[in-house]
Amino acid sequence: AEKTLILVKPDAFARNLTGEILARFERKGLTIEALKLVHTPRETAETHYAEHAERPFFGELVDFITSGPLVAAILSGNDAIKASRQLIGATNPLEAATGSIRGDFATLVGENMVHGSDSPESAEREIGIWFPEL
Ligand code: GTP
Ligand code: MG
Repeated sequence: AEKTLILVKPDAFARNLTGEILARFERKGLTIEALKLVHTPRETAETHYAEHAERPFFGELVDFITSGPLVAAILSGNDAIKASRQLIGATNPLEAATGSIRGDFATLVGENMVHGSDSPESAEREIGIWFPEL
């Protein structure tokens, strides 16, 4: 089965929506392979979002992802990457479908609840960042 890396971002964690969000992935048929609470070092956030390093919002993005604890998970299942991205919804919560996590719970592009890997290459890279011990 395919693997993907999910982050329940600090906004979602602070709003006590971690269980609700993980339940949605489980209901879809995905399996939790690894799970942990992380107080994210700045360097980890910068490495995770390195592809956005030149964007004007990069500083705010790193500030946000390090603003409080988050929950990192490895999920597995059939087409886990696409299935997860569908559950998460569009990057901008105002464009995300109702029924998706972002569509149901968020309004700000900068505080959009969840991350999911966007390709097999990204998933492998991100699992190495968040679960270097595995
Ligand atoms: P992630 O799963 O977090 O990677 O989101 P994504 O794959 O849907 O979007 P992308 O990788 O393109 O952007 C990464 C993150 O940067 C997004 O989740 C947003 O929080 C943030 N971001 C993207 N575009 C903007 C923007 O125009 N303004 C701000 N403030 N943040 C943005
Ligand atoms: Mg992305």
